[in-house]
Amino acid sequence: SGPATVSPTGQETGTPQDKMAQGGKFLTTAHGARLKDSDHSLRAGPRGPALLQDHHFREKISHFDHERIPERVVHARGAGAHGTFRGYGTASKLSQAGVFAKDKETEVFVRFSTVVGSRGSTDLARDTRGFATKFYTDEGTWDLVANNIPVFFIQDALKFPDVVHAVKPHPDREIPQAQSAHDTFWDFVSLHTEAQHHTIWFMADRGIPRSFRMMEGFGIHTFRLVAQDGSTVLVKFHWKPKLGVHSVTWEEAQIISGADPDFHRRDLADAIEAGAFPEWELGVQVFEDTEDQMFAGIDLLDPTKIVPEELVPVEPIGLMTLHHNPSNYFAETEQVAFNPNNLIPGIDVTNDPLLQGRLFSYLDTQITRLGGPNWNQLPINRPHAAVNDMLRDGMHQTAVHAGVAPYRPNSLDGGNPFETPDGDRPFIDHPAPVSASVKERALPASFDDHFSQARLFFQSLSEVEKEHTAQAYTFELGKCYEQAIRERQLKALAAIDPTLAQVVADGLGLPVPKPAESPADVVPSPALSQVGREWPLD
Ligand code: HEM
Repeated sequence: SGPATVSPTGQETGTPQDKMAQGGKFLTTAHGARLKDSDHSLRAGPRGPALLQDHHFREKISHFDHERIPERVVHARGAGAHGTFRGYGTASKLSQAGVFAKDKETEVFVRFSTVVGSRGSTDLARDTRGFATKFYTDEGTWDLVANNIPVFFIQDALKFPDVVHAVKPHPDREIPQAQSAHDTFWDFVSLHTEAQHHTIWFMADRGIPRSFRMMEGFGIHTFRLVAQDGSTVLVKFHWKPKLGVHSVTWEEAQIISGADPDFHRRDLADAIEAGAFPEWELGVQVFEDTEDQMFAGIDLLDPTKIVPEELVPVEPIGLMTLHHNPSNYFAETEQVAFNPNNLIPGIDVTNDPLLQGRLFSYLDTQITRLGGPNWNQLPINRPHAAVNDMLRDGMHQTAVHAGVAPYRPNSLDGGNPFETPDGDRPFIDHPAPVSASVKERALPASFDDHFSQARLFFQSLSEVEKEHTAQAYTFELGKCYEQAIRERQLKALAAIDPTLAQVVADGLGLPVPKPAESPADVVPSPALSQVGREWPLD
């Protein structure tokens, strides 16, 4: 059965009939009147002119004229699938969320995506991939809106429009469509050296996955799990594909892009149709919820840092299997609305400044993309838990709300929805201490190290992977028109690994920069990545 909603009147919507907007043996108008002819417009005589009174003509053309909705402002190109998540029970001691209970099965919908390209771009672009999962739990919908790279470009969500403006095609020529080979991209990442860690992950082979079925997923931010007794831990979420992690080479990607730009979405749909259901284990790295939220010198609130799995292994907590394809791309893959705000009792956010901004952005963008505030009522977005939300009216409202008093307490409609019978668990925002002088804009000094984890990543690669990474930098930087940008990025590479810088510099025919040690050696202006902090950094 489809996602169901219970309105305040107790009526269930979202039944299969409700999802199935079309039925019956005959072609009809949108108001259900049977049609005899849908191929010829009504004319005054066989040679026209066409008549304004032809309702069927106007309805058909007008509806078509309004068929497109805006594509996502990022992650526009995606492919989705339905599946099931089964908890192992291993996280039950850490979180009260029922979704993690042993053998508890929860329906999920997953959307994989590229970030930069438009809806019609190639699947094989060198890019980060989105990996967003909607868990339709009994306790509300939980969205884990993840990527296939464990760190992000920026540390503060206020810079998200800037990084997206830099990675999207140039405003003048609208190129490139889906790659990172352009001046604004390299200008941004060389000036904002916190982006270097993320960038090296997708300059390496992980930037061109072999298949969505062979990608890891990372929640990136540190989240807080709340147990039944109120105790908390900090966690990072990881998806591990049962098929392992595989990529294609750049040359393979070029050939596939030409021959089949839909390669990834075809691969996912074909595998599911053939019964080769892709599976991922969900796991967590668990950290003590200390006041400073640091681990081994790593700031857990900095989304440009990982915690190496050698230090904190990933503990498996459940298995996800994708077992059926969407039946309608628009209704499911396009209209699905993920949102990091969709949390359930037992899973809470932390003060990561990137995550905090995401909590506003998704809700906001979907009002434009899905035409108003009622997108939660679209079949793919309907919670499987009962909904009683006191939200009313608005564009595209489909619920018929009963009662006269959508406020609490009231003495007209009766009942107190805040009563919690034994065993029921409301969502409680977990109280966490803040160390605050308000009007603080500077990030903490623990966010300053921009190079050591990029170095760690590069040094963990095999020789072949290192070679591919150097070739990727050389190719992509080779597309830059501005010499100064290439030189600045080479300085950043020298701060990551001198050999990498040397190979790329040789490839570009540029002098090898001397090793840089801090953002100050790369970025000429103090203002850019360290707003509000003293310069040079101590
Ligand atoms: C869309 C992941 C940071 C704004 C997405 C999607 C994913 C994703 C997977 C596609 C969802 C889908 O398939 O429908 C991430 C990750 C981030 C991150 C992992 C960092 C850890 C941000 C930030 C902002 C942002 C900082 C803004 C402040 C958006 C917007 C969309 C989007 C506006 C389009 C949503 C829609 O139209 O439904 N993101 N994102 N993201 N993201 Fe992010």
